[in-house]
Formats: sequence, C-alpha cells, structure tokens
Amino acid sequence: MDNINKELIEAKKRIDEIDELKKSLDSEYKTLQDKIHLYFDSQTIDTTETEKFIINSFWQKAYENYADGGYITDDVKIRELRFPYECKLIKNIINKHCKNKNTALELGCGNGDTSRFLASIFKSVKGVDMSKKCIEKNIAENKTKNLKFERKNAFEENQKYDFVFASDMFMYSPECDVELMFEKLLNLLNGGGIC
Ligand SMILES: C[S@@+](CC[C@H](N)C(=O)[O-])C[C@H]1O[C@@H](n2cnc3c(N)ncnc32)[C@H](O)[C@@H]1O
Repeated sequence: MDNINKELIEAKKRIDEIDELKKSLDSEYKTLQDKIHLYFDSQTIDTTETEKFIINSFWQKAYENYADGGYITDDVKIRELRFPYECKLIKNIINKHCKNKNTALELGCGNGDTSRFLASIFKSVKGVDMSKKCIEKNIAENKTKNLKFERKNAFEENQKYDFVFASDMFMYSPECDVELMFEKLLNLLNGGGIC
C-alpha cells in the first residue's frame, strides 16, 4: 500500500477513536448533570455550596459570551433602550428620597453603565461585581474620577453609603441569600440613605 493510503486509513481509525471518546464523554456529561439535578431536586440535601459555585462560575464566563453586559443577551439594542429609561426613574427616586448625595454604591454593577450615571449625581461612587472579567474591563476603561470599581461579592461590602443600588442581581442569587442580601442593603446605608 502506498503512503498516502496508509495515512488516510490511520486518519479514519483516529476518527473512529474520537467518535468513541465523544460518546463516552457525552454519557459522562449526562450522568454528571443528572446527578446534580437529582440532588438539587431533593428536599433533604443541602446543595447551597454547589449552587453558589455554579452561579459564581456562570458570572465569571458570562461577559465573554454576551454583548450587552446586563441582560445576558447579544441584543445591544436592549442596552440602548433600557439604560436612558432606567436612569430617568433612578434620578426621580434619588431626587425625591435621598437626603445626601455624597456617596453611592452599585452592587452587581455589570458593565458599569449605572455606576457611571450615578457618578454624575454623587460625589463619590463605587461599583462592585463578582465578575473578574467585567470589573477588569470597567477599571481599564474608566475615565470618571469620582468612580471606582472593585471586584468583590456584595456580601463583602462593609462601608456606609447615602444610596445603594442593585439591579437585576437577586434573581441570580441562591434563595437562601436573598433575605440576607436585603438586610445587607439596609446595613450599608448612612442615616437618611436609601436603597
Ligand atoms: C444580570 S447582571 C446585571 C448587571 C447590571 N446590574 C445591570 O442591571 O445591567 C447581574 C450581575 O450581578 C453580579 N452578581 C450577582 N451576584 C453577585 C454578588 N453576590 N456579588 C456581586 N456581584 C454579583 C453578576 O456578576 C452580574 O454582573
């Protein structure tokens, strides 16, 4: 047999091997997924740590895959339409209820749009998010002097602010964290502050 035919036969054998490997990986993938779902659905086993791990991993990768930075879609139009509308609402609330306009915090700030907007109202603003990728980008692109970004879990924030804002964040938190998060928000407020 000539060399080229030998090579092609080897290639076909390798394809068959890869097919087998794919089948076995698919089967392992499905088994592992079923295992996670089974434990998650059980009412007796506490899976909170796994839930937190999954949510955290999701957010570390999310900004690689989605363009809008907030709504987790590739529809950049949503960002254009949503942002001015939300800013208007936020500004009304701040003007009506917020006594001091010195410091503001945004939890789960994503791409930092709202933090940047808050920096036009408050003397000093901080945006925090657990996503490394997102915070690194925000820091690299930040041109606003009274705004800083920090990578951290919202629960790790401990200073006090006149205004604390979080949008579109709680629905991605483990259920057991939601009530604690509301308590946290209240604890982050200066006297007369709002969230
Ligand atoms: C759907 S995005 C919303 C981003 C932005 N607030 C907006 O409305 O466009 C949710 C963001 O919350 C962040 N996040 C979720 N849980 C968090 C937590 N416990 N601490 C800090 N960031 C969190 C995620 O990394 C993600 O960037």
